[in-house]
Amino acid sequence: MALDKKTPGAAGVPQHIGIIMDGNGRWAKKRGLPRSAGHTAGAANFRTITRYASSIGVKYLTLYAFSTENWNRPAEEVSALMRLFRQYLEEALSDFMDENIRVRFLGDVSAFSPELQALIRRVEEESAVKDGMVLNLAMNYGGRAEITRAMRTLAARVESGALKPEEITEEMISGELYTAGQPDPDLIIRPSGEERLSNFLLWQSAYTEFAYFDILWPDFKPQHLDEAIEKFRSRNRRFGGV
Ligand code: IPE
Ligand code: IPE
Ligand code: MG
Repeated sequence: MALDKKTPGAAGVPQHIGIIMDGNGRWAKKRGLPRSAGHTAGAANFRTITRYASSIGVKYLTLYAFSTENWNRPAEEVSALMRLFRQYLEEALSDFMDENIRVRFLGDVSAFSPELQALIRRVEEESAVKDGMVLNLAMNYGGRAEITRAMRTLAARVESGALKPEEITEEMISGELYTAGQPDPDLIIRPSGEERLSNFLLWQSAYTEFAYFDILWPDFKPQHLDEAIEKFRSRNRRFGGV
C-alpha cells in the first residue's frame, strides 16, 4: 500500500519514531576520510530526514545524537561533534521553525558549553509555540542516567514525606523522564547494521517495534524511512495480549 504522505498523522504512520543515527564513522572510513567528515554528512542527513518525517505526518521524532557514553571518544572527535551541534542548532533549526517543528532536548544539557546551552534554551523557547511535529534531540542522553534522575526525584519526595514508596506508579516514573507527557515510541530505527539499543529510551521502549538497516546513517534516505514504516505496518503488536 502506498503511504499517504500528505495528511498529518496519516493512518499507518507511527505517531512516535526514534532513530539511532549510527554509522557516521564507518561511512567516512569507507571513503578514506576522517571520522569528523562522517559526522558532517550525518548532520546534513539529520536535516533531510527530519523534514521528511514532518512532511509525512510523524508527530514525535526522537533522534539520538550523542550518548552519555560518547564522551569516551577522542577529544578531537567530541569537539568536532560540539561544533556541528552549534552550527546545526543555528542553521537548520531556524528553518525547522518555518516548518512548524517544535524542538525539545532529552538529556543532561548542563554538561555542554555555556554557548551551546544558551542556544539550546533559545531553540526550545522560540519553538515552544509551534504545534507541528515535536523533534526530540537526545544529546548527552542515556536511558540509565534518565531513569536514575527520575529515581532521585521520587526518592527526594519520599524523604520529604510527600510520597510513600507504595504510592509510586509507572505513570509517576514516566512523568519524571525527559519524555514526560509524550507517547512511547512506536518504532525505533537503527541504521549501520548494529542491532542494539545502546542506552536509548530504555524505559519508553518496552513495547516498541524495531527496524534495523544495513545502511550507514549518512546513506539513510527518506525511502528507507518509508520502508521502516512499511515493516512497522506489517507487525502485529500484541502488548502481551493475544
Ligand atoms: C553515530 O555514528 C554518531 C554518534 C555516535 C555521535 P558513529 O560515530 O558511532 O559511527 P560508527 O558507528 O563509528 O560508524
Ligand atoms: C549510539 O551509537 C549513540 C548515537 C548514535 C548517538 P554508538 O555508536 O555510540 O553505540 P555503540 O557504541 O555502537 O553501542
Ligand atoms: Mg557507532
